Amino acid sequence: MTVAEAIAKRYSCRAYQDKPIEQEKLDKIFEAARMAPSAKNLQDWRFVVATDKQCKQQVAECTNHPNAFGQAAALIAACSVCKDTMRCGQQIAPIDVSIALEHIALTATELGLATCWIGSFDAEKVRQVLAIPKEVVIIELMALGYPANGKRQTTREPVKNFVCFDKWNF
Ligand SMILES: Cc1cc2nc3c(=O)[nH]c(=O)nc-3n(C[C@H](O)[C@H](O)[C@H](O)COP(=O)(O)O)c2cc1C
Repeated sequence: MTVAEAIAKRYSCRAYQDKPIEQEKLDKIFEAARMAPSAKNLQDWRFVVATDKQCKQQVAECTNHPNAFGQAAALIAACSVCKDTMRCGQQIAPIDVSIALEHIALTATELGLATCWIGSFDAEKVRQVLAIPKEVVIIELMALGYPANGKRQTTREPVKNFVCFDKWNF
């Protein structure tokens, strides 16, 4: 599968099969995260992967779709150990972790799995469930598993609405 095909095929999946993910696939997925670029090559991402049924359900209860995300074979808590900002003023942590997470999402797609980014969650509850230290920032959750449905088309703006050349022209 080409990168373009994986990008086109990826979608936010909110229904999963009750089927575990093979270790070989998990290895490929986290290898893709490992290869992500990061500011100053800090590689500050840390992933806590809930696969135990009870632990997973407890994490799912912290989200906006507990039933749907509780079905996924894995719920990934994507964290960062970096508190730095870049010279441009932006925080490193959410950017580095997000790039690695999208590597995960696209690789999962290539392997016949599906994902969903989850920003609607109670971070302090997730911290408790997964014993994540207080100095670690929890950036996002991601559901990962075999899909129980197909891609639902979502809309996108045409490129001309968000790209201009040489000077701001929107
Ligand atoms: C940073 C981020 C946070 C998101 N948080 C949630 C969420 O909490 N719950 C959810 O069901 N979907 C969530 N989504 C999925 C978006 O709703 C979805 O990407 C968007 O509607 C486009 O649909 P598609 O991914 O299927 O193309 C999130 C996506 C991103 C990128």
